[in-house]
Amino acid sequence: MNIFPSQYAIIFAWLLCAIMFNTGWCNLHIRCNQKDKDALLNFKQGVKDPAGVLFSWSTQQDCCEWKGVTCDNFTSRVTQLSLPCSTTLPTYTDYMDKSHCLAGSIYLSLLMVEFEFLYHLNLSNNDFSTIQFGSHVHSQNCHNLSVGIPSNQCVNSSAIRYLDLSFNNLAITSLDWLSHFSSLEYLNLDGIDLHRETKWLQLVIMLPSLLELHMRHCQLEDLSPSLQYANFTALKVLSLPGNGFHSELPKWLFNLSCDISSIDLGSNLLKGQLPEALLNLQHLEALELDDNNFNGPIPHWLGEFQHLQHVNLRKNMFSGSIPSSLGNLSSLLILSVSSNRLTGVVSEKHFVKLSKLKDLRIYISPPLIFDFDSHWVPPFQLERLVLSFSGPKFPVWLYTQKSLEHLIIYESSFEAKEKFWSFLSRMKEVHLERNSIDGNLSNVLLNSTFISLSSNDLKGLLPRLSSNVVVVRLPNNSLSGNMSFLLCDHEMLSGNNNLEYLDISLNLVSGGLTNCWENWKSLVHINLGSNNITGEIPSSMGLLSNLTSLHLHENKLYGEIPSSLKDCHSLLIFNVRENDFSGNIPNWILHGAKALQLRSNHFGGNIPSLICQMSSLIVLDIANNTISGPIPNCLHNIAALVSNNASHNKLSFHFPMGDGRHYTFEDNLELVMKGQTLEYGKNLHFMSLIDMSSNNLSGTLPPQMFSLIGLCSLNLSHNKLTGKIPSEIGNMNKLESLDLSTNQLWGEIPQTLSNLSFLSYLNLSFNNFTGKIPSGTQLQGFSALSYIGNRDLCGPPLTKMCFQDAKQIHEDGQTSEFFSWFYIGIETGFGTSFFGVCCAIFLNRKWRHVYFKFLYGLIDRLYVMGLITINSFSLHR
Ligand SMILES: *[C@@H]1O[C@H](CO)[C@@H](O)[C@H](O)[C@H]1NC(C)=O
Ligand SMILES: *[C@@H]1O[C@H](CO)[C@@H](O)[C@H](O)[C@H]1NC(C)=O
Ligand SMILES: *[C@@H]1O[C@H](CO)[C@@H](O)[C@H](O)[C@H]1NC(C)=O
Ligand SMILES: *[C@@H]1O[C@H](CO)[C@@H](O)[C@H](O)[C@H]1NC(C)=O
Ligand SMILES: *[C@@H]1O[C@H](CO)[C@@H](O)[C@H](O)[C@H]1NC(C)=O
Ligand SMILES: *[C@@H]1O[C@H](CO)[C@@H](O)[C@H](O)[C@H]1NC(C)=O
Ligand SMILES: *[C@@H]1O[C@H](CO)[C@@H](O)[C@H](O)[C@H]1NC(C)=O
Ligand SMILES: *[C@@H]1O[C@H](CO)[C@@H](O)[C@H](O)[C@H]1NC(C)=O
Ligand SMILES: *[C@@H]1O[C@H](CO)[C@@H](O)[C@H](O)[C@H]1NC(C)=O
Ligand SMILES: *[C@@H]1O[C@H](CO)[C@@H](O)[C@H](O)[C@H]1NC(C)=O
Repeated sequence: MNIFPSQYAIIFAWLLCAIMFNTGWCNLHIRCNQKDKDALLNFKQGVKDPAGVLFSWSTQQDCCEWKGVTCDNFTSRVTQLSLPCSTTLPTYTDYMDKSHCLAGSIYLSLLMVEFEFLYHLNLSNNDFSTIQFGSHVHSQNCHNLSVGIPSNQCVNSSAIRYLDLSFNNLAITSLDWLSHFSSLEYLNLDGIDLHRETKWLQLVIMLPSLLELHMRHCQLEDLSPSLQYANFTALKVLSLPGNGFHSELPKWLFNLSCDISSIDLGSNLLKGQLPEALLNLQHLEALELDDNNFNGPIPHWLGEFQHLQHVNLRKNMFSGSIPSSLGNLSSLLILSVSSNRLTGVVSEKHFVKLSKLKDLRIYISPPLIFDFDSHWVPPFQLERLVLSFSGPKFPVWLYTQKSLEHLIIYESSFEAKEKFWSFLSRMKEVHLERNSIDGNLSNVLLNSTFISLSSNDLKGLLPRLSSNVVVVRLPNNSLSGNMSFLLCDHEMLSGNNNLEYLDISLNLVSGGLTNCWENWKSLVHINLGSNNITGEIPSSMGLLSNLTSLHLHENKLYGEIPSSLKDCHSLLIFNVRENDFSGNIPNWILHGAKALQLRSNHFGGNIPSLICQMSSLIVLDIANNTISGPIPNCLHNIAALVSNNASHNKLSFHFPMGDGRHYTFEDNLELVMKGQTLEYGKNLHFMSLIDMSSNNLSGTLPPQMFSLIGLCSLNLSHNKLTGKIPSEIGNMNKLESLDLSTNQLWGEIPQTLSNLSFLSYLNLSFNNFTGKIPSGTQLQGFSALSYIGNRDLCGPPLTKMCFQDAKQIHEDGQTSEFFSWFYIGIETGFGTSFFGVCCAIFLNRKWRHVYFKFLYGLIDRLYVMGLITINSFSLHR
């Protein structure tokens, strides 16, 4: 080997440096410029950093090595500051935790003046709440910065070219400062509230070098539709989805440089037909106009864009048929025309040159007619397909799609034989909801990570699941047979199972719950409701330590609840409504549980006072059992019912698809409130309810119970409770529904009851109340039915006059009659105009199909929200 001594020396120096690096000895490597270092420390001083993100900003000598800092290799000056915060959505809540992110104020002039060479600034997804032009310190460069807008000598313009402040907790009232950032090439203000800045476009178009503008979800409304020219002549990417633009497409758009490659105006309220002037933008690669109110035909000239890769027209009011000219878009990768008012026939001529197509979405309701030659081999290999179709034949070309990973078919009818199911098993994600699939799942092996076959009237036995399956949804079919087909297939059980979500509710499954649960420990959500399942809950279910919701309602299960379930530490929802369970209310405690629904079983015994230790409980439904004894006087220990704040944490299951999209399934419970049975889903976390009705409870109403001021609904009807209503009831100011009917309560109705301004359902009937219904209050807004069956109760709305009033009428007949009508007038006003804030937000009546429809609507939307995210990623590549 021929290595010169000088080269040895260099290598030796490098080695030495590497060794000495941490001691700070090796000056060769300390590149940090003192001025930049001071500036960085100034920056650090101005931000709140609860998690110590900037910890390294002092311990390490070389500021070029500090977290987020990049220096130029030759000048050693700080050129980039990149401190985005990374957040993840926890699996069981959708409350984004940003407590580890940077917060406080962003001082723009500090960044402009003190960092002379900074060209890239990324503070995305932090928790900054204000943006200030001035500085929190007196800058060495410019003493007047703290005063506000810097004088011209101070700052002429910033060198920053990339500015990303997206998804901070910011509301910006003025963007005037943009004029100092004349070098900007990339500006991202996604998710920042800009609704107060009406001049946003005028300010932005003055940025001569701007290549990319991102202002998604900024609450902007004015797109200046009549402005002729916008001067950002270099613009390549215009991304303004999720705002409130409600005009037609603006004129300046068609006069942009023809170099513009991507326009995203999705999820606005834009209207009108697509003007042919769009053809000026010949280099367009992506056109996203989804989720607006565009109408008219999908123009045939769209086929003339040579470079279009990405067309999204989903969810508008486009009518007519799909022009076959779209088949000329030979660069096309993604095409969505879903959810429009399209009609007509789709055939191979729509796809002639689409050899690059990867993603096709053509879900129309009612479906378009598919008329393909049965020997047609498409020029493309799709990865994702969303469709609905009608037609005599199944589009067999689907089977040629070997790369397909995501298949979504809605509202179509077809016959599914073995070939179809084995075709599906290659797919990662399958949605076949609300179809009329003529199929039988006996002996089918499901192999997709995510599979939903809800509402199809599928028959046969439960399918088997491979270890790839994580989410399986089969509700609302006619599947029968025994759980063991799904759970106890010993061939399958050799591998590790990853199943987290299992929903086979609303089927005809019979037999017991099996003892095979130990093989499915990753389960998070189980819904077996509304089947014909019988037997006892096996103690092996206690092994499901990650289980958060267990729905076993409307089956024929019996026996006691096994105490092994106390090992399900994660359980939040336990729902065994309408079974034949007996024994005592379980006195093992699910400390974290939020909903306990034991309604309509044969539970007996007393209410254990341990129930008061369930401090997160918001739904306690033990109605229609044979529970006796007193109401425990410790209910005020249930912290969640004493607090007035609804939880941020929705009761829902999140599933990330791994490609930027994720699904959310809301948990739901059927609850009785205001005398009606309602299905609560999306807003379940707002609900707070105690229902102990139709039991044998006795004793008095414990006064402590009335400190549950977070409660929306209280139902103690059909018991043997006695005593008076304590006047403390007036503190329960969230109460919307109160039912104390059919007990042996007595005494006067406390005047304080009229403090409950959200109360819109009241039933005090069939007790032994006496005296006058407090008058001049909304308590008379309820009908007489709320009060009947109380022998000694009087006054409106009852027809029975109170003794005093009767006397008065005698003296002054007509006026009083007038007043009683007047009361009724007010009352109905109260009754109809009062909508509660918390529990009244119900979703649907108890009609399952409606509920399911809702759920699907939601899936569709989330799905597309995900799509938008993907799109924006792919555009920059
Ligand atoms: C600067 O140096 C780093 C590390 O030595 C290297 O990764 C990077 O590519 C260099 N950048 C330039 C622009 O040369
Ligand atoms: C800022 O950081 C985020 C998160 O890493 C990244 O997605 C984004 O592209 C960055 N912005 C710029 C302008 O590089
Ligand atoms: C700073 O402000 C003072 C008084 O407001 C003014 O006299 C001075 O010229 C300013 N200095 C600069 C550099 O603008
Ligand atoms: C700003 O521009 C003026 C005139 O163009 C110049 O005299 C002054 O030095 C500049 N100031 C800075 C901080 O660059
Ligand atoms: C914007 O462009 C128009 C037409 O090109 C031109 O007349 C106008 O002066 C420009 N405005 C600015 C502020 O550059
Ligand atoms: C099941 O899925 C895996 C991974 O997605 C795939 O490799 C395998 O071929 C599939 N099995 C069948 C029978 O399709
Ligand atoms: C339970 O959940 C945790 C956290 O999500 C996960 O790490 C663990 O693997 C899960 N347990 C099982 C048995 O899947
Ligand atoms: C439910 O199961 C019982 C036997 O356990 C059976 O007699 C009955 O027909 C089943 N009902 C339905 C609707 O399948
Ligand atoms: C009460 O429960 C019984 C069975 O335990 C059931 O038959 C009945 O329909 C239920 N009543 C109400 C009102 O839910
Ligand atoms: C109602 O109250 C009266 C007097 O307090 C009592 O005599 C009567 O038994 C009570 N009736 C019922 C049904 O509790």
